[in-house]
Amino acid sequence: MTQQRVEVAQALNMSLGESPLWSVERQTLYWVDINAGVIYAWQTAQSTGLTQMELGEKVGCIALCEGGLLAALASGVVRIPLPFNGQYERLAANPEWLEGQGNRFNDGRCDAAGRFWVGTIDAQESQPTAALYCYREGQLKPQISHLTISNGLAFSPDGRWLYHADSLSRSIQRYPYDVTSGEKGEPHCWVDLDALDLPGVPDGAAVDRQGDYWCALYNGGRVVRFSPQGELVGNYPVPCPHPTMVAFGGKQLDTLYITTAMQHLDAADKERWPLAGSLLQMEVGKLGCVEPSYAAPLA
Ligand code: BGC
Ligand code: CA
Repeated sequence: MTQQRVEVAQALNMSLGESPLWSVERQTLYWVDINAGVIYAWQTAQSTGLTQMELGEKVGCIALCEGGLLAALASGVVRIPLPFNGQYERLAANPEWLEGQGNRFNDGRCDAAGRFWVGTIDAQESQPTAALYCYREGQLKPQISHLTISNGLAFSPDGRWLYHADSLSRSIQRYPYDVTSGEKGEPHCWVDLDALDLPGVPDGAAVDRQGDYWCALYNGGRVVRFSPQGELVGNYPVPCPHPTMVAFGGKQLDTLYITTAMQHLDAADKERWPLAGSLLQMEVGKLGCVEPSYAAPLA
């Protein structure tokens, strides 16, 4: 285990912080509180640069697009202009959102060709009713079905691999990927938390410039790093049980930002882990990749 110094980037009380995302163009970190239906924007070079937008419903994840953000709200994919002006445009409905009874969107990101991949989560977080989709030009095409909690989506820097985790399986799958066509091959079980005796479940991830996969272990109180061969090469404890996702950001793309959650913690846990619900940061001596933007007609 590497005891790396973890600092508070923004002291917050987020129920379910998620989806950190760095925009090189805007030198801004974006992230969400899924349960609160809020997107945050923070120009890290400015002490007063934190703004937020309320969506009025849960927001699973965000991605960059021309002039703004794509957001996967519970009910569907929308485009949000930047800077926030309180407005957004609906692009596609979530096929699993049955008027509030169904599955909301969860983890997602763009591939290097600018397709937006986004998954759902079973409403009870217990049955395999969720799926992973690829969004392009108004269409959400199903890619993987029978999931329970779609998480951990990432791509290798050379575009040849797609990583994905169905959290409750406690494993991470790797698929051969053709970034030109958007087609993926047969998966294999790339990381098995049971075999490695690691706690928690795989949540959100980021791949660094060397191709290492950094993953937050929800309920595992740590961020772990795997080589492209799937070997555990880093294990970084964080001061709360529920880190949710990581992203490289900052001018040099060398700061690891970590979102965290307060949900499922009781008062005693919260006293023990006062940083749960905040945005954290850690200097890890590695460089991140530039996060691709959505790059196709919107609808
Ligand atoms: C989901 C949470 C879930 C967590 C752990 C997150 O991506 O949004 O609802 O509890 O993963 O599986
Ligand atoms: Ca997640």
